[in-house]
Amino acid sequence: MTLLRSVSIVGIGILPVRKTADTDLRQMAASAVQAAMDNAGIQQVDALYASNMLSDELQGQKHLGALIADEAGLRSIEALHIRAATASGAAALRVAYLAVASGAVDRAVAVGVEKMSQGPVTQALSKALDAEVDLAQGATMISRNAEIMQRYLDHYQLPEDALADFAVNAHDNAQTTDHAIFRARSVSREDVMTSRMVHAPIRLYDCSPICDGAAAVVLVPTASATKQHDMPIQILGSSVVTDRFRLQDRQDPLQLQAADLSVKQAMRQAQVTLTDIDLFELHDAFSIIACLSLEAAGFAPPGEGWRLAREGAIRRSGRIPIATMGGLKARGHPIGATALYQAAEIALQLRAQAGGNQIDGARVGMMQSVGGVASTVITHILGISW
Ligand code: COA
Repeated sequence: MTLLRSVSIVGIGILPVRKTADTDLRQMAASAVQAAMDNAGIQQVDALYASNMLSDELQGQKHLGALIADEAGLRSIEALHIRAATASGAAALRVAYLAVASGAVDRAVAVGVEKMSQGPVTQALSKALDAEVDLAQGATMISRNAEIMQRYLDHYQLPEDALADFAVNAHDNAQTTDHAIFRARSVSREDVMTSRMVHAPIRLYDCSPICDGAAAVVLVPTASATKQHDMPIQILGSSVVTDRFRLQDRQDPLQLQAADLSVKQAMRQAQVTLTDIDLFELHDAFSIIACLSLEAAGFAPPGEGWRLAREGAIRRSGRIPIATMGGLKARGHPIGATALYQAAEIALQLRAQAGGNQIDGARVGMMQSVGGVASTVITHILGISW
């Protein structure tokens, strides 16, 4: 038995993801909050949960909850800064969801913002790893993901281009996404395989880009949601699961156990099965993570996730569309904001407002964020509640 209230998204606000935003961090966040509140038709919220990973290192700024609330003109409200490394945005959504579901607050906004265009970003991102072990070895997010990708290619004896179709799909989908960093840019398999080797076997097109962005969603109890929006999007499931922190401590680094469990928990709560999921906004920060996430969720057996890309099952017309507006790869991955973009994009899909990116008849969408090397995995399932 659950004592939680049902919660729905009634407002979304997204800024375009760009290489360099022309406003500062607090203004970006406040603009996204304002857009989400306008979309929900409200002037006030009871609580604001702000997600961001890197402002401490890149802007010299902590304490974003109160900062963004003040900038957005939201006085005397509860406001907190929520962090879970590269899964921070989903953590803020989870906290906002729990705050409304518990009855503690009636209107909450989850806002994510990241301005990666300033400062030593690669070094700052690496702090998602274990400082005593990984960083002492000089590891970065790219190098650890390269190790996983190499292990995958070796273990299943795959050709080096096995994962290339993930980038092709993401860039195809971004072509018609105005808010994507790589809008209007088509990418072929050949482009992917001739792109610069960043850290073997990871090439440029296997990586999500460094970018700036902010996005927000407004949450209210489902019972009163239609007062705010005639197409509320219900949060059917929400789950956070952690794994052994370091890759080398896991029995099988190719199995994202936290992703497996998180999907199962979220599906159980949502009372849906894999066949009900119409689209999956997964954490394609690197092509290998897209592949392993599909396997962990159960859309493909171990070693077969890449086939979903090769055979077109991940395309908008396929069995399990992913990255429907470009994903982390081509819409962009402004870390703390990413999951709020995913939530907003799924809301657009379920409201049938996704324009040229629309998945016909979409009713249930799943979104997932991966913190570090899948040490934290957060999954939400969203559905139509009208
Ligand atoms: N995919 C496709 N194209 C990319 C790209 C990417 N990920 N990153 C940059 N580019 C393009 C730029 O648009 C630019 O093209 P242009 O010359 O036509 O304008 C060109 O490549 C050079 O851009 P630049 O910014 O100089 O690239 P870079 O070499 O500094 O950065 C990476 C490339 C891959 C190293 C960087 O994007 C990166 O570190 N990505 C990973 C980020 C990360 O770890 N995120 C956390 C994951 S959880």
